[in-house]
Amino acid sequence: MTRPADDDVTLGRGLQPGDHHYRAFVDFPGSYDIGAAMQFSLVTALGLREDHFLLDIGCGSLRAGRLFIVYLRPGRYFGLEPERWLVEEGIRQELSQEILAVKRPMFSHDRDFTLSAFGRQFDFLLAQSIFSHSAPRQVRRCLAEARAVMAPTAVFIATYWRGRESYTGEEWVYPGRVLYTAGDMAALARQQGLVCQQLDWTHLSGQTWIAITHPAHRDQVRPVTNRCSMVAIKHWLRHRGAATLGLARRLYRRPRTGRTPAESS
Ligand SMILES: C[S@@+](CC[C@H](N)C(=O)[O-])C[C@H]1O[C@@H](n2cnc3c(N)ncnc32)[C@H](O)[C@@H]1O
Repeated sequence: MTRPADDDVTLGRGLQPGDHHYRAFVDFPGSYDIGAAMQFSLVTALGLREDHFLLDIGCGSLRAGRLFIVYLRPGRYFGLEPERWLVEEGIRQELSQEILAVKRPMFSHDRDFTLSAFGRQFDFLLAQSIFSHSAPRQVRRCLAEARAVMAPTAVFIATYWRGRESYTGEEWVYPGRVLYTAGDMAALARQQGLVCQQLDWTHLSGQTWIAITHPAHRDQVRPVTNRCSMVAIKHWLRHRGAATLGLARRLYRRPRTGRTPAESS
């Protein structure tokens, strides 16, 4: 089936990360949907409930925000994003003024990680693909601000590119990326009085997920994994035809042979 041309334009198909389009600016446009699902499933697996307060740092065009905003009770979603146009375009294309009026998310367009600008504490903080572009001074500033706004039991979930050496520059790098060693990332958290634990959660482009907490509440981080579902998703994405046919065969075979799911291979 051929798709209408304007669908490709709306969804940013064929564009590269960083291009001036609300989906392409934040990632490969083809990952926009699953990238949102991965964030939403991780944060909810770690315990986000509808009455929690969530701060989405570098929320971009509300890729994940559009799911969190609808899930949370009104006035619980807060987004920090210096590129105001991204938030406006995300609202226009993915949410609507009606949902905005009901859910009342709050936004700040500060460029200096002033998380305290919202004047409140948060249960969950999220920085997806932010430290992967940040200079050490920006990570320090973000973590210092985070410590001040994290509720005692808060979990701050972030991603970074893990490497053998750490970036030592002074500038935000975009759409390129920067690397940090696991030791340096843990030290950056420790310097702000926080602790950092690695999460067993697949990232579509290969970044590492971490959970940052106050030291006394490091046990707050539940053991989570998405390894099984990711294997299934990746398989389906690579071999859609064969995987769908295989699933159809299995569904069709069960009633005919009378085997229970536990007996079938
Ligand atoms: C790779 S995108 C990720 C966006 C979003 N978290 C997502 O998963 O779709 C990086 C985002 O960080 C934003 N950004 C750039 N400088 C920033 C800063 N100083 N503080 C917070 N966010 C910033 C960019 O505008 C962009 O939206």
